[in-house]
Amino acid sequence: MGDLILTDNRDGVLVITLNRPEKKNAINTAMWIALRETFRQAAEDDEVVCALLCGAGENFCSGVDLSSFGEGLEEGEEHPFESAARAVAEFDKPLVAAAQGAAVGGGATVLFHADVVYVGESLRLRLPFANLGLAPEWGSSYMLQANIGAQRAAELFYTAEWVDADRAVECGMAARSFPDKQLFEEALAKASEIARWPVNALREIKRTLRLHHLPAIDAAINAEQAAMERQAGSPENIEAIMAFMEKREPDFRKL
Ligand code: COA
Repeated sequence: MGDLILTDNRDGVLVITLNRPEKKNAINTAMWIALRETFRQAAEDDEVVCALLCGAGENFCSGVDLSSFGEGLEEGEEHPFESAARAVAEFDKPLVAAAQGAAVGGGATVLFHADVVYVGESLRLRLPFANLGLAPEWGSSYMLQANIGAQRAAELFYTAEWVDADRAVECGMAARSFPDKQLFEEALAKASEIARWPVNALREIKRTLRLHHLPAIDAAINAEQAAMERQAGSPENIEAIMAFMEKREPDFRKL
């Protein structure tokens, strides 16, 4: 899958690494396509029993690449974001995630689809949709409520506040936290424990765990996409992106 998404099969555990550390693993167009293909192939590959998703360097992922959204696509060509999001959400084998440092936007919402999430103590997670003048994505408008409850989810969406490792564990976004230095080895050990078991049994367990979620995720992704189309490119979204590029605070009151 090239350099942007690294894969390494460790005795049945496919380690999938988002590999663009100089941009905090922000996901550009080529990476969305590679991520989608990686998950589709992993679902088909009999040598893969479970997957472990992590980020290269000190951060998990800073979400959609804000400086190059849609770059490299032909006029009218569908952005691969949605198909990549669905490939991860519909992955039918256990998915473990190990996240440290920044986990923002898609770098946070992807975690809501992992069956088991481990976080490093440096975690700083954010749902940056209100502050970017955008709407939720990756089925997060449903999955976060399912994972942590409607009250806590609404608080995080509306305030766009930062969540640290302790809070992520306390509210049920993550199973456990570890010192950053131990995070990958601990997550790999747990994924390896899972990978000892027969893949078909694991698939059936996942199917039963996800049965009620899948139609709701599908509906959420459709609704989010419609909301995103209304908001992306709006004056408030442009102000937010310009502020990010110019390394300043956005001023929504002037609009
Ligand atoms: N898209 C594009 N570039 C990004 C990025 C993103 N989502 N996130 C980080 N980067 C780039 C920065 O522009 C910077 O590039 P530069 O070195 O060329 O200036 C580099 O990655 C390092 O990021 P920086 O902001 O300097 O690091 P930080 O530790 O101060 O902050 C974040 C890290 C993740 C908190 C901050 O970069 C951020 O808020 N990014 C935006 C995340 C976001 O809103 N994503 C959701 C999109 S829906």
